[in-house]
Amino acid sequence: MKVLSRSLLLAYALLFSTFSLAQEENPNDWILNADSSEERFQLIQGYLRGFDQPMWEVGERYEKVHEALTRENYQLAGYHWRKIRTTIQNGYLKRPKRKPNADSIFFNGTWESVKEAFDSADKETAWNAFGEAKRACMACHQAEGVGYMKNQSLFELEQE
Ligand code: HEC
Repeated sequence: MKVLSRSLLLAYALLFSTFSLAQEENPNDWILNADSSEERFQLIQGYLRGFDQPMWEVGERYEKVHEALTRENYQLAGYHWRKIRTTIQNGYLKRPKRKPNADSIFFNGTWESVKEAFDSADKETAWNAFGEAKRACMACHQAEGVGYMKNQSLFELEQE
């Protein structure tokens, strides 16, 4: 009896171990399941996209700047303006070829003067700066060969 239960136990143990070896990979482990670290980094790099995703965020925040100015919340406008800088500069990591135009067209003094205008909390100065910002966005789009970006409602936002 004792021998039987022992061999039963052994059989169970064997069965269990072969079962767990043959277990299917969890398809949700889309990074861990890759065959090598290089393949994993490739997956992550592809997933993190190029310049389009930071630009999408910049567009959202630009709209938020407009909303903040409409509410005369100049601190909030300045907050989004700072995040726009961070987002564009982080974008250089992925697409270094975008840096020269962004630096010479957008960060050549425009970014700073718009920031100062928001800091002034003067309505007219701040709205003029919003126009200046828009012109710099569009100039970079033109220079980067995506001039068609201009023709969208985002760039029709004005003082209400
Ligand atoms: C390097 C210069 C540069 C500057 C500065 C810049 N952009 Fe862009 N933007 C681009 C490029 C390039 C694309 C297209 C990206 C692509 O094709 O992957 C783009 C795309 C966009 C898009 C479309 C994103 C999408 O996929 O939905 C929006 C919206 C946008 N930009 C808004 C702005 C706004 C607002 C500003 C100013 C605050 C701005 N951009 C400043 C270069 C720039």
